[in-house]
Amino acid sequence: MPLVRPGETCRIALLRKTLRSKLLYPVILCKGEVFMNCTGKVTDEIIWVGGNDRRLNLFENAYPIPRGVSYNAYVVLDEENVLVDTVDKAISDLFLENLEAALSGRTLKYIIVQHMEPDHAATLVRVCERYPEAKVIASAKAAVMMGQFFGDALKDRIQPVAEGDVLETGRHQFTFAMAPMVHWPEVMVTYEKTTKTLFSADAFGTFGALSGVLFADEVDFERDWLDDARRYYTNIVGKYGAPVQALLKKAAGLDIALLCPLHGPIWRNSIGWFVEKYQQWSTCTPEEDGVLIAYASVYGHTENAAEVLAMDLRAMGVKKIALYDVSVTHPSYIVSDAFRFSKLAFLSATYNSGIFPAMETLLLDLKAHALKQRTVALAENGSWAPTAAKQMREILSGMQNLQLLDGAVSIRSSLNAGTREQLREMARQLAEA
Ligand code: FEO
Repeated sequence: MPLVRPGETCRIALLRKTLRSKLLYPVILCKGEVFMNCTGKVTDEIIWVGGNDRRLNLFENAYPIPRGVSYNAYVVLDEENVLVDTVDKAISDLFLENLEAALSGRTLKYIIVQHMEPDHAATLVRVCERYPEAKVIASAKAAVMMGQFFGDALKDRIQPVAEGDVLETGRHQFTFAMAPMVHWPEVMVTYEKTTKTLFSADAFGTFGALSGVLFADEVDFERDWLDDARRYYTNIVGKYGAPVQALLKKAAGLDIALLCPLHGPIWRNSIGWFVEKYQQWSTCTPEEDGVLIAYASVYGHTENAAEVLAMDLRAMGVKKIALYDVSVTHPSYIVSDAFRFSKLAFLSATYNSGIFPAMETLLLDLKAHALKQRTVALAENGSWAPTAAKQMREILSGMQNLQLLDGAVSIRSSLNAGTREQLREMARQLAEA
């Protein structure tokens, strides 16, 4: 029995082989890629129709994602069926198969677009073409962006909603809450009252592909996912602490049984634990008392100073120390640990009369992400005219509420007895801060 419908370009027909075997097997009827749908049941009426990308090297062409990333989208089945967000174009073909499988012949009545960034909205026009009856529900700012991204393609399909607007689809009731700058200005989140589900857009997402799991309680999240969740938050949304705080205040008034983000696993247990992480990250409250040491070294002498500092800190009782070579580790990992730890030390070789470039990139990144409430120590190295510390201080002193320790250890080529002692004093001040 062929399952091809008019207007579709690529289909699988399942044919029952009547001779000798009754197995079902797929037959490609026309040219194009064919994917077997891969969906996940969240509840009896909420179906995950997203997918994973393990081939993308840099998320947003900026952040390494060695464990891949998931793009989540959800179908809510009801008298009127709803799709919550779409996916990145990298997995659009699979997504369309997933959507069709989840709907299983039903009509799609609404597409809720919470966020217009193309990792979630790039497939929107294709969905609208396939489901011509579907209305697009979005914030007024998202409607403007749809025009910017898609021209007039969706002009007559958009049904703008505002804070507190309600959509009833039968058994479900969706309420919309604006969440500007979490992480773009048009973002809104959606609370479904019957299932107590918060569709949270980018909030509460994480890097990492979903490998045979759908829920956070199916993995050891703290051990295996928290670092990626923190790196995702701090680098993608971290700049927007105040808007995240505003969203958390709105969420605090809701009874949430399911938290469905656009990336990473879904939460149905320990939601409060993860919300508390967001509370810390969005207020720049350190998660742990410890020291992040980041160094830029050309021939190993500044690296040696960083290692010596770490051992001094250990000897003084500091238990949590993270040590990074800024030329080796991508800044997104160091930014993440800068949000994690209470104290920071930056040691840089002087280069072209300035800060070593990778260190400068890191410091500007921290400034761009509005890090605050940290104690910071500085050291520099230079064989004839060390200037890195002064310039590092200029960047950092423009940031809010950083406690910069007085002075800086200034190394001439390599540590000597004098700078060795200054380094010990730096460790003491950090340990006691
Ligand atoms: Fe996952 Fe801001 O997009």
